[in-house]
Amino acid sequence: MCGIFGYIGKKYDSAKIVFNGLKTLEYRGYDSWGIAAVAKKTSSSNQATIIIKKKAGKIGDANVSDLPRSTISLGHTRWATHGGVTDINAHPHLDCTGTLAIIHNGIIENYDEIKRELVDFGHRFISETDTEVAIHLIEETLKKLQKRYSATKTHDELLTEAVRKSFNRFIGSNAIIVVSAKSEVFLAAKNGSPLVVGKGDGENFLASDAHALLPYTRTVHFMEDETLVKVAKDSISLYALSSTRAKIPHFTHLSWKETVTRKGNYPHFMLKEIVEQKDIIGRIAIENNPKIATVSQAIIKSYGTYIVGCGTAAYAGLAATYIFSKIAKRHINFAVGSEFSYLLDFLSPKSLVIALSQSGETIDVLDAVKKAKEKGAKLIAMVNVMGSTLYRMADEVLLLGAGTETAVVSTKAFTAKLAYLILLASKIAGYEDEGRNALKKAALVLRRIFEPDSTRNIRRLVDTIYRKEHLYVIGRGISYPLALETALKIKEASYIHAEGFAAGELKHGVIALIEKGTPCIAYLANDETYGANLAGAMEMKARGGYIIGVSYKPHEVFDYYIPVDDVGIATSIPAVTIGQLLGYYLAVKRGLDPDKPRNLAKSVTVK
Ligand code: F6R
Repeated sequence: MCGIFGYIGKKYDSAKIVFNGLKTLEYRGYDSWGIAAVAKKTSSSNQATIIIKKKAGKIGDANVSDLPRSTISLGHTRWATHGGVTDINAHPHLDCTGTLAIIHNGIIENYDEIKRELVDFGHRFISETDTEVAIHLIEETLKKLQKRYSATKTHDELLTEAVRKSFNRFIGSNAIIVVSAKSEVFLAAKNGSPLVVGKGDGENFLASDAHALLPYTRTVHFMEDETLVKVAKDSISLYALSSTRAKIPHFTHLSWKETVTRKGNYPHFMLKEIVEQKDIIGRIAIENNPKIATVSQAIIKSYGTYIVGCGTAAYAGLAATYIFSKIAKRHINFAVGSEFSYLLDFLSPKSLVIALSQSGETIDVLDAVKKAKEKGAKLIAMVNVMGSTLYRMADEVLLLGAGTETAVVSTKAFTAKLAYLILLASKIAGYEDEGRNALKKAALVLRRIFEPDSTRNIRRLVDTIYRKEHLYVIGRGISYPLALETALKIKEASYIHAEGFAAGELKHGVIALIEKGTPCIAYLANDETYGANLAGAMEMKARGGYIIGVSYKPHEVFDYYIPVDDVGIATSIPAVTIGQLLGYYLAVKRGLDPDKPRNLAKSVTVK
């Protein structure tokens, strides 16, 4: 995780530019933030200095006007891995001399071994981070190179070599940007973690994500793994990390719209994004997307289709297995991203892997699909973020088009995936129109769910249960992934311990957890699962559970009823929004910020 941003150019408010870049990248981590500005030589000091401002906590509306006027700045927004959430552990980090600064996204897996060596050489560490080890290793390597070559090589040449040599020692997925007070260049290297170079007019940029560059430039080079780049204000030089060989950067012009997302009249992005689903599903139902034909053909032709995703996207993948079984009478395999790498030994060039991801940057998904591609499998991405790593890796992309998801808790990307999966399965079955009609009806049901009477009903329930510590959700068939997703929304937004189960599993152990008054949500869809699911609700009721029925009709077993009209298999879309709204209102009632839950980040780019 973590977001990194660097500016080098002709403007003197570089700290402010970096600050704005970090605000765009904050979705990558909001444990702390920090900016380093290179202050020019003055009459009293004939060497430039690096001035750092860094703090634990969200960047918010921090003031960076106390940083010096400077044409070179870099900054970082952190999701803590090594070391607690403190000011000292915030990036940038400095070397012993205070003349080299680094920002870093990733994990240096062998940092402790390198640190031990550096301590023996006399280096002092003030933070608990792996990143600080990196800058001291660069310092140490530079010192050695200077001893041998300072007569024949420039400082920039030696620094480039020091960064290259040091980075090559790091094990893990990493991207770094290094600046020296003694030169006017950035050195950046990457392997695994994303890094984009932006080319401007007399100014250049580096960022973890191209979207952060859009206000400044649309000419970008997406760095490949195992590369190093030297960026000055009017030059960009690319090298392979394995040698000193120069490489040619491939600049792309981005035609994407710059999306400025605002909450409008909504108190939080999460609520706004939940409500947006009615329009997104309505649009997917009627749009003429040629990718539906392409992707469904690829599924038909494949000798096995494997769906992979993490978290919410994983639950969409699990839902896909039911959707394809019911509608297309086809078996689709599914695995979570972090496990797929261990399950793909049998893939062949005839296999198809469909990766589901909102961000397109989830490392567990990227690692798995990289391995699948090495086995020759074809890769299709169902992704929301255009230009993301997954988007660029895929042989074919089905863009979700759900618009920017700003709240960390994923909502609209989930239902957009369900909608496309329903269309794909319907197309394969030869019933595309039926699929579209079901989605149109689902969009209408969503409208009703977001009406004040309906949301009032959900908020009344929240008033009853918000102090509870545990909550359980059951479903069968397609409602099973909805139960998992509902539990995830509730736990990540409200911190209530919520677990989703396949209703049939209750009596195999879970039922031991039900006590008098335990809230139990039961998804009861109008399908073959209704009776057996109801039996599960009754079993929980018999043990004192407080039964919340989410269903198309009321039932006497329910202590609380939340209606969701039946629209066949597409009912899963409005039904899950009940879980999303519960998560949202529970968070608000408990005084939490549902847009930025503790310990999470929008994009999970570390293992
Ligand atoms: C849950 C949530 C996460 C993500 C997961 C995958 O609300 O946001 O579980 O779904 O980290 O992220 P993407 O879809 O970006 O690959």
